[in-house]
Amino acid sequence: MTALLDAEGRAAPGTALARLQERGFVHEILGELKSGKEATVYLGRSPLGPVAVKIYRDAEVRSFKNDQRYLEGRWVGDARLSRAIQRRSGAGREALKAMWAAQEYLVLWEAWRAGLPVPEPLVGPHVSDITMAGEVVLMRFVGDPDAPAPRLSDALLDADEAADAFAQSVAAMKALWRLGLVHGDFSTYNLLWWQGRVTVIDVPQAMRADQPAAREVLAQDAASLVRTFARLGIEADADEVLRTVTAEH
Ligand SMILES: Nc1ncnc2c1ncn2[C@@H]1O[C@H](COP(=O)(O)OP(=O)(O)OP(=O)(O)O)[C@@H](O)[C@H]1O
Ligand SMILES: [Mg+2]
Repeated sequence: MTALLDAEGRAAPGTALARLQERGFVHEILGELKSGKEATVYLGRSPLGPVAVKIYRDAEVRSFKNDQRYLEGRWVGDARLSRAIQRRSGAGREALKAMWAAQEYLVLWEAWRAGLPVPEPLVGPHVSDITMAGEVVLMRFVGDPDAPAPRLSDALLDADEAADAFAQSVAAMKALWRLGLVHGDFSTYNLLWWQGRVTVIDVPQAMRADQPAAREVLAQDAASLVRTFARLGIEADADEVLRTVTAEH
């Protein structure tokens, strides 16, 4: 926490978190929720209630393989920016973190507006606001501040709940596909369980369904969903899941 805020609870001047504080999007950071591979998620207090504050960490730690998909694809059109990112210069690293955050916001907005079970994004949808937020993704917190929603990978579910959670997860995957999106890291590690509802999180790597690799990534998502649900006692077939997700009806 000390690294994020000073004794008065202010973020370092000039940082994206300070901008969000100044503009009243978030009042204070209450604690760290989880430090993952690519970001640290904090619990924050905002005018709208508890918020999850996901701050992308330095791009060094991100897998280069993942970045490459964007660098070579639709994302970086500018050669200088691309080179700065490849070199991992200071500016390049900042750009890359902001790029991942922006991508996460855009996917969250699209999914949220279509009524899918994702956390409500709290900055945007205007691109100028999303740019202002830099590497910080602010979204509705799922759970109680005292008891954050567990991931399905950690949750203790009885057989009926597990079957329900699996059905909701497959339905969410299908709804995303219908929207033209493939999550790209779909497993119980990125599904929260709260009051009998599944929430899909961690969406920055989502890709368009019309990208060449989309079907393959969808198949991988189906396989990891089935594999990770085995711990919850669900025996399912990945091909069957894939058929359900892509079926017209
Ligand atoms: N909106 C939210 N509400 C409650 N908890 C959240 C929310 N978003 C994220 N979390 C918590 O923070 C954790 C990390 O979030 P996320 O998966 O988006 O980041 P990550 O850096 O990819 O983490 P990992 O490497 O563990 O996958 C989640 O597993 C969850 O416990
Ligand atoms: Mg995750």
